[in-house]
Formats: sequence, C-alpha cells, structure tokens
Amino acid sequence: MESLIGLVNRIQRACTVLGDHGGADGALPTLWEALPSVAVVGGQSSGKSSVLESVVGRDFLPRGSGIVTRRPLVLQLHKTEAGQPEYAEFLHLPRRKFTDFALVRKEIQDDTDRLTGKSKQISPVPIHLSIYSPNVVNLTLIDLPGLTKVAVEGQPESIVQDIENMVRSYVEKPNCIILAISPANQDIATSDAIKLAREVDPSGERTFGVLTKLDLMDKGTNALDVLEGRAYRLQHPWVGIVNRSQQDINKNVDMIVARRKEREYFANSPDYSHLSNKMGSEYLAKLLSKGSIPSITSLINKSIDELESEMDHLGRPIAVDAGAQLYTILELYGRPGGDRIYGVFDNQLPTAL
Ligand code: GDP
Ligand code: NA
Ligand code: MG
Repeated sequence: MESLIGLVNRIQRACTVLGDHGGADGALPTLWEALPSVAVVGGQSSGKSSVLESVVGRDFLPRGSGIVTRRPLVLQLHKTEAGQPEYAEFLHLPRRKFTDFALVRKEIQDDTDRLTGKSKQISPVPIHLSIYSPNVVNLTLIDLPGLTKVAVEGQPESIVQDIENMVRSYVEKPNCIILAISPANQDIATSDAIKLAREVDPSGERTFGVLTKLDLMDKGTNALDVLEGRAYRLQHPWVGIVNRSQQDINKNVDMIVARRKEREYFANSPDYSHLSNKMGSEYLAKLLSKGSIPSITSLINKSIDELESEMDHLGRPIAVDAGAQLYTILELYGRPGGDRIYGVFDNQLPTAL
C-alpha cells in the first residue's frame, strides 16, 4: 500500500515535469487528474495552512490573518528510511535541498510574490514542493487560498469567484479527498467549506469535516453537536483541532509543543475528553495515512483502473519520449491483479525524473 502511494507521488511529479497539469492540452491530458490527493477547503483564515502543517508535523507554511496563501501548493510527502536526513525540494529549484524549513516557508512566500508581486492577488499556478522524511506518510496534500465573500483593497472584484473556481478545480476531481475546514467559533450553517464540499461531493464519501479553533469558542458553548454529527451529518466522523494561535506563531511556539498542548487540551477538556482519542492533528494525520481510510484505498484502486483504461484507449506507444516512456512503464507494471503496480517501478522511471 505504501509503495502504491509512493508510486502515485512519482507519477504526479512525472506528469508535472512532462507539462501535464491536468486538463491542459498536453500530451497526457487526464493522467494527473486520475491520481488521488488530499486538499484543504475553507474560508480565509479558517486554519487550513495550520492544519496541513500539523498533519505534516513540520513548520514550513506561511500562515496568518488575512490572505496569506495566494497560490496552490502541491505538497508531496515521501517517507524515507529511519535515520535519513529530512529535507525539502521545490520543483522550480531542482537539486537544491532545503534542510531549514524556515527557508522553505520563505521560498514559498518569495515564489508567490514572483508571480503576483507583494500584493493581495492570487495566481492559479501551483507551487510544487516535496518533503522527504522518515516521519511522514506518503501522501500528496494541496494547500489552497481561502474562500472569501468580498474583494478587499488591492484585489480585483473578480477575486471572490476566481478563488472559488480555483478551489473547485481541485476538489471537484472524484479522486480528491476533501478536508473541509470550518472554524468552531462560527456557526456551522455558515461554513464555506461544507457548502463547497457538498456541491462537489454530495454523497460525502470523500469529505472529512475538520473543526478548528475549538479553543476560541465563546465561554459556555461547545462543539459537541458538530463533533458528534448531530449538527451536520457527514459520512466520516468529524475531527476537532486546536492549532497554534497567532500569538503562538508570533512567539515561535514549535510543532512538538503545539501538538503536546493540543493533546492536553482534549485530554483535560470536560466537554471533549470522552472523544480525545479521535481528536487532534496527530489523529487526523493517522487517518490520512496509508490504508486507514478505506475510501483512499478504493480511490487509489479506482485511479489505477482509470489509468489502465486510459492506456488501453491510447494504445501502447513505443518509448520515443518521456511521456510515451511513462505509458510504457505503467503498462509494464500495471497488469497483474492484486497489488498490481509495485516497487520495481522506482528504477524504471525515466532518469530525468
Ligand atoms: P488559512 O488562511 O485558512 O490557511 O488559516 P491559517 O492557518 O493561516 O490561520 C489563520 C489564523 O488563525 C492564524 O493566525 C492562526 O494562528 C489562527 N488559527 C488557526 N487555527 C487556530 C486554532 O485552532 N486556534 C487558534 N487559537 N488560532 C488558530
Ligand atoms: Na489566513
Ligand atoms: Mg492558508
């Protein structure tokens, strides 16, 4: 299973190198779209980037009030062997290994500014980042700008719709797992995340409700109606989260301390202690890891079936270029039943990848 997701990561990378961003008029029109990923959806400052960071367990994403995430970030996590050093690599800066994650955050900001200027504008052109670490699970995560309701100073009037269209283009894909992020200090009936998730995934089979900011609720209220599925029923159970506050960010409270505080919050909460083993970012990370979610497994198998039928449709090209080579490789390894695509694959990808 793990090599399967690793494989999926490599194919996504290959597609990017080959210029297939999904749906464009490239040589591999739908390959990228067939592969599974996990994307965050929600209103601006609902805690999307914070949740992704906690799932990864490293501090590397720009976070804060206002519009901070201004381009999609496609983040591939690659699990490496125990003891291996942890590093990050951008697709636009090949061969530069980042070991200081503060510099990763700076490069995300800088590369965003390169396309949009230091502004409140957005760009649909994704930043591709890979993290290699013994401490992650193999997974592709996508951070997206937050949904808004009005254009603020310095933004074009169209931005509200532009953001929604951009977010929708990621989450409407049938193999995208949606982390629908809603802040607990706003009524769930006003959730932009749930609204969009319900539109693109009416059955809810690929939507996970994530409730952030539990620590910021009005005194005397709690989120049990949501967390226990009475307020808004989802197919999968809701996960409650306590991320770092802006003050924690300003004080550079690190991930390990933040996770410990979050665990303590749930363990000691009179409202949530009975749910504490199904709450928090570590639990969410576990949920998203290999095989824990049956629907991820079945989505991956579905994707491979789609890839196979696509290959049948396209025929069996002779390996004249990297794209054709990729198909040939998929073919070579994509046949027998059971675990189908596995292992050996790594050695057979075009070396440029
Ligand atoms: P995004 O715009 O949805 O990506 O949200 P960010 O992750 O950038 O967070 C926006 C702001 O909300 C930051 O100042 C975070 O510190 C704060 N924040 C996010 N989640 C929580 C939470 O669970 N509790 C508290 N107290 N603050 C949070
Ligand atoms: Na924000
Ligand atoms: Mg963000």
